[in-house]
Amino acid sequence: MNPQVTIGRTTFANPVLAASGTFEFGLKFPSVANRLGGVVSKAITLQPRAGNAPPRICEFPGGILNSVGLENPGVEEFCAEVLPRTRKLKCRVVVNIAGFTVEEYGELAARLDSESVDALEVNVSCPNVKEGGALFGQQPRVVEAITALVRSRTARTVIVKLTANFVDPAETAKAAEAAGADAVTIINTLFGLALDGNGRPFLGGRNGGISGPALKPFALFCVDRVAAAVKIPVIGCGGMMDAGDALDFLSAGARMVQVGTASLVNPEAALDVWTGLREYCRKHRAAGWDEIVGRTRRQA
Ligand SMILES: Cc1cc2nc3c(=O)[nH]c(=O)nc-3n(C[C@H](O)[C@H](O)[C@H](O)COP(=O)(O)O)c2cc1C
Repeated sequence: MNPQVTIGRTTFANPVLAASGTFEFGLKFPSVANRLGGVVSKAITLQPRAGNAPPRICEFPGGILNSVGLENPGVEEFCAEVLPRTRKLKCRVVVNIAGFTVEEYGELAARLDSESVDALEVNVSCPNVKEGGALFGQQPRVVEAITALVRSRTARTVIVKLTANFVDPAETAKAAEAAGADAVTIINTLFGLALDGNGRPFLGGRNGGISGPALKPFALFCVDRVAAAVKIPVIGCGGMMDAGDALDFLSAGARMVQVGTASLVNPEAALDVWTGLREYCRKHRAAGWDEIVGRTRRQA
């Protein structure tokens, strides 16, 4: 079967992406990145950001909490230093962008439109910053305004990465679709708090974002719900550790999947997911992804 997936004007070699913030910029493990559908960059902002104070990661039995806080080199250094190197990868490069005002998203989209990027992932869902981030993503009107502005400033494929924190993502997904998004990614991390045993916050940034296996049932629920609400493709993310998890996400309605925390445990995790999916399709003689995507609802 043809493993390719097309979203907007971008064709990916297969449906597996490395999620933002968990695979550097795809440069540390090029032999893995080269065989994925694509890599999603860490969030890029207009200005460089140092991120939150350490500690930034806290492990718990079901996953981790992180409070990285959008550390990144800023769009100019990203375009000058990082992008030319990621372009040498054989996979698609999706740039995740984050702003602190609606206008900043427009500026980032316009700046990156003149660069060779395959798609933008508009991050309206970061839980680790005091302004913007998930606060934007909770308001359908703001999601619509940001998406419309980005759409008007770029010809690239536009993917909106939604939050599921204190909001019905079916509503924000509809807002993104109405404003011209080519796809939505669901979910980003969920708000979390870890204490140090003496009643004080463990993470330097105080609150963090929960990721890893604990997220999967809720992420699947969100994918199922959002896929029923919109016509544009849904990219599933949250607690995907192996090919079995990825199949669940495709069955629930995701056209593509993103592997996040699993890559921090095993840098080959996303490739293992793709190898396992390909093996499953071969064994079951699947004619195409349409046979698998959304079958949970069709079978109900
Ligand atoms: C350390 C870390 C950094 C992250 N940085 C970003 C980021 O910059 N932009 C973004 O949209 N998501 C970011 N995420 C969220 C992931 O891309 C993903 O949506 C989330 O972790 C859920 O998937 P997972 O359970 O497979 O990790 C980050 C996650 C982690 C663990």
